[in-house]
Amino acid sequence: MRKLSIFGATGTIGDNTLDLVDRHRDMFDVQVLSAHENVDKLARLARKYMPTLVVISNPEFLPALKTQIADLPIQAEAGPEALIYAASQSVDLVVMGIVGFAGLAPTISAVRHADAVALANKECLVVSGAMVMHEAARHETLLLPVDSEHNAVFQILDGRDIQGLDKIVLTASGGPFRETPGDALRHVTPEMAVAHPNWEMGAKISVDSATLMNKGLELIEARVLFNLDPAALDVVVHPQSIVHALVYYCDGSVLAQMANPDMRGPLAHCLGYPDRFSGDIAPLDLAAVGSLTFEPADRDRFPCLVLAERAMIAGGIYPTILNAANEVAVAGFLAGTLNFTEIAGMVAHALDMQTELATPFDPTVLEDLDACDKKTRHFCSELIKRKI
Ligand SMILES: NC(=O)c1ccc[n+]([C@@H]2O[C@H](COP(=O)([O-])OP(=O)(O)OC[C@H]3O[C@@H](n4cnc5c(N)ncnc54)[C@H](OP(=O)(O)O)[C@@H]3O)[C@@H](O)[C@H]2O)c1
Repeated sequence: MRKLSIFGATGTIGDNTLDLVDRHRDMFDVQVLSAHENVDKLARLARKYMPTLVVISNPEFLPALKTQIADLPIQAEAGPEALIYAASQSVDLVVMGIVGFAGLAPTISAVRHADAVALANKECLVVSGAMVMHEAARHETLLLPVDSEHNAVFQILDGRDIQGLDKIVLTASGGPFRETPGDALRHVTPEMAVAHPNWEMGAKISVDSATLMNKGLELIEARVLFNLDPAALDVVVHPQSIVHALVYYCDGSVLAQMANPDMRGPLAHCLGYPDRFSGDIAPLDLAAVGSLTFEPADRDRFPCLVLAERAMIAGGIYPTILNAANEVAVAGFLAGTLNFTEIAGMVAHALDMQTELATPFDPTVLEDLDACDKKTRHFCSELIKRKI
């Protein structure tokens, strides 16, 4: 039995992880579950999986959580500090499925205490890849990438170093607006943006996929995970989402990883690592798929990709500003206060204000990252208020 903690258990990554647990109840012993506000679902999951600890990060919901599980021998805690504490429990594997910057502090805690961390939360690698990687090395914690593209690269490299590697290319589905004319993008609604053609995901990552910011964040994530120069990273649009990443070698060989687009695949790889187990995922039938197509990313219609590449190349404080501005802009779009194309506009504006938003900044100091994140959020929220 592997002891498992699942952060963001009520989200899509949580659903997919628990689906695998359900199919292999003899393999996993769930110790910790967390949610932010979805108290009813967290209580239901607690009753089903009987962890020792549950955390609701918004403290307003703690009384309701306690009431709902009062008959169970489960400790219930609330707030960001409780998340850090929960991530410090000694387990075999932490699945980190919290969305956004909020996942950073618990990830650092998990990396310091767990044997292995299956990392879905990409934002923490974007804002502080150096710290996460440093802590993982210091504590000899295995970091397993959940993102399908990075999981693909991890599988291709299979523990070998990057000798002879020319470049890594991440595939992008192109999102729901791959063929939408540029001047129609401003009329995109949140409902249209979250309807991803190939993947079922939470709202924030779905919007990021639609703007191609997700692919930009993934480039930064790949730079951190595989210790590559930005010039050795690229993106290609592949609408079928069957090939997840390509690794180019100096002898002309290109290795690809293929699988049906189903997050239970990379999650099963992480949950079983180094062994493999079945997630009952539909076998890939290439004859039925018929053709695999590839095209360049359109950086004119999807400027968020360019902004993320700019932040990746600049490094330092830029990825933190990029991430915070994007989180505020996406929330504004989902709330109906920004239109789709204004997401890129707000992120660009925040990056241009780098000097004003700069704080004393050391990317290996959590407080510095937190201060920059807060300052950028405040700046962007004020822009939205002025617009309203
Ligand atoms: N979904 C995918 O296929 C996929 C693939 C690759 C990578 N990822 C990455 O995995 C992460 C999760 O994605 P998702 O699609 O699962 O998102 P999601 O469906 O929106 O779920 C997010 C989870 O995080 C919790 N949460 C939200 N805000 C929080 C906060 N401030 N503090 C603590 N917990 C918070 C939510 O709790 P409540 O339910 O209570 O709000 C929920 O459990 C993201 O970083 C995403 O980029 C996802």
